[in-house]
Amino acid sequence: MIYPVTVYGDQSLRKKAQPIEKNYEGLAEVIENMWETMYNSDGVGLAAPQVGLSIRIFIVDATSGAEEEPELKDFKKVFINPEIISTSGDEWIMNEGCLSLPEIREDVKRPEEVRIKYLDENFEPHEEVFKGFAGRIVQHEYDHLEGVLFVDYLSPLRRRLLKSKLMGIATGKVQPHYRIKIPVKSV
Ligand code: NI
Repeated sequence: MIYPVTVYGDQSLRKKAQPIEKNYEGLAEVIENMWETMYNSDGVGLAAPQVGLSIRIFIVDATSGAEEEPELKDFKKVFINPEIISTSGDEWIMNEGCLSLPEIREDVKRPEEVRIKYLDENFEPHEEVFKGFAGRIVQHEYDHLEGVLFVDYLSPLRRRLLKSKLMGIATGKVQPHYRIKIPVKSV
């Protein structure tokens, strides 16, 4: 089942998501639906708050980038109850987008590497370091579990310039090619 994607203005994107237990009801189905939703919207990552679930899960699949970055070839993973242990390396800028911020792309500075521990879909623990594009996606998706969006990193001026675009998203004036949940019914 494809979930509608929550967009800027939706409260679920601003909450700190909660850890889940292994016996979380319908977990396998939630993960399956998240994959379907992500592929349907052409995303490379999706966090549970983006489908209105305030739980600590995100998924990534950047295997399509393996031609340019060979280490992405296995970068299809489910992260449950992740915890960032540390970030390191020089900060670098990448132009980011987000399914919850349709039609907005902005340069965002983030550290090069991230060390993270997490459980996979079988609740097996892992601890790994991700760098480059993979490290970028992990940090972006992890932020969603903390209620953070990439526009939060922009300068006050840049944010002011985006204000009407953001309002447009929150009021349903921006219609991406995938189904969204409009946060504000009438303004
Ligand atoms: Ni995002």
